Amino acid sequence: MVNYKIKIESSQLEFDVKPSQTILEGAIAAGITIPYGCQDGACGSCKGKVISGKFFLNDYQSSALTDSDIKAGMTLYCRAMAQGDLVIEPNVPEIFDEYSPKVMPVRVESLTKLNHDVMQMYLKLPASEKLIFKAGQYIEFLMADGSRRAFSMANAPHESMIELHLRLIEGGKFTSFVFNEMKEKSIHRIEGPIGQFYLRESEKPIVFIAGGTGFAPIKSIIEDMIFNKNKRKIYLYRGVRSEKDFYMTDLVNSWNKKLENLTYIPVVEDGSVKDARNGYVHHAVLEDFNKLSDIQIYCCGAPGLVENAFIDLTKNGLPDDQFFADAFTFSPKKNKKII
Ligand code: FES
Repeated sequence: MVNYKIKIESSQLEFDVKPSQTILEGAIAAGITIPYGCQDGACGSCKGKVISGKFFLNDYQSSALTDSDIKAGMTLYCRAMAQGDLVIEPNVPEIFDEYSPKVMPVRVESLTKLNHDVMQMYLKLPASEKLIFKAGQYIEFLMADGSRRAFSMANAPHESMIELHLRLIEGGKFTSFVFNEMKEKSIHRIEGPIGQFYLRESEKPIVFIAGGTGFAPIKSIIEDMIFNKNKRKIYLYRGVRSEKDFYMTDLVNSWNKKLENLTYIPVVEDGSVKDARNGYVHHAVLEDFNKLSDIQIYCCGAPGLVENAFIDLTKNGLPDDQFFADAFTFSPKKNKKII
């Protein structure tokens, strides 16, 4: 079978890709490091330029690759398949070198149920290791069969232990294992930090949209802002299906009381909470802001939430480069993010 040659413009590195492989799969197989996350067209981490050559682009989420990205010659390497030789230029974010991922062992320090289907896990690193990351990034568990499971860190970077929030996924092997069999003090291997969901420099008010355990990386960012005395205006929209899905409400209520710059808006889809808004969480944002050009959105949750929020908010005036997202999926295969 004919392979195509992919050349990286700036480094002059080359690798082969099979017609059945994505550009990213070809790069990984050749041991070439380019940034990536979900491998599913949802997170935008693998976005980069195709300078010349023909390729086919499979389905992707418009929040991961916007129309302006396409106009600028960008694509998602995890969804793009070469149809001939290509010259590409990966978009290596400024944090990629400084916060480059590494593999390290961790010990499960504690497992605590936070509600009916969310487990809080604390992981301890060996004394000789330090995980340097940006609030909002994630780590991956490296499984014995070569697969990976990704979860956002809920702790701020200055804290020594890694905190994760894991939702029990029906039929999900790893989360069932965590809920039913994983032992405290057991040792695992992780790789991190990964991802480009982190706070961008700006004076604009921040609107966080957290769906379910998408609260985890947002907690990390807010606690980091508190630690760094960052007083930017924060609107925290937290969406769940029904009341029983909330967790860590005392913590969020204490932020709401103590922090003058934070406004908390709980949103419950089924309307089961008297003091919360009803319906979809991003609809509450649309109802509250009539000028979306003056804010930045940071959205984390299921792909449907992220995609719908991106479409509806940008349609109503949010510049697409002011929407930052981290989407997760409930049907993990290799390297899928499930938070
Ligand atoms: S969009 Fe390609 S890795 Fe997530």
